[in-house]
Amino acid sequence: MSDAENLVEVGPASEFEDGDAEIVQVGRAEVGVIRAEGEFYAIRNQCPHDGGPVCKGNVQKELVGEFKGTGKRVDQQYSDTDIISCPWHGWSFELETGIHIGDDRIRVPTYDVVVDDGIVYVDSGD
Ligand code: FES
Repeated sequence: MSDAENLVEVGPASEFEDGDAEIVQVGRAEVGVIRAEGEFYAIRNQCPHDGGPVCKGNVQKELVGEFKGTGKRVDQQYSDTDIISCPWHGWSFELETGIHIGDDRIRVPTYDVVVDDGIVYVDSGD
């Protein structure tokens, strides 16, 4: 359960469209609150690659493929995982976990999001 003192107000949930990102200050960190498929996510707006504004990137489903062998067509499809791609060099992260899609050792910090009475909040976790 979130402690109300830890909540940072973002704004009315009704003003978010899918793919929208609202940047708020949470302590000393800039955090992007992003809506995808009706769900809210919050990740730090600082890419672990070179500090880029990852929350300003595109939100999409992860494209996954299966290598079938040399000379064969790769079998590609979109998964159910929502990701965001950093606008600077394209590193991509799962919105829910902040984990890089190609290397689970790399991660952007994530935050809990609370929607209460139609208002979106980020839990600073303090
Ligand atoms: S700074 Fe984000 S991919 Fe390079």
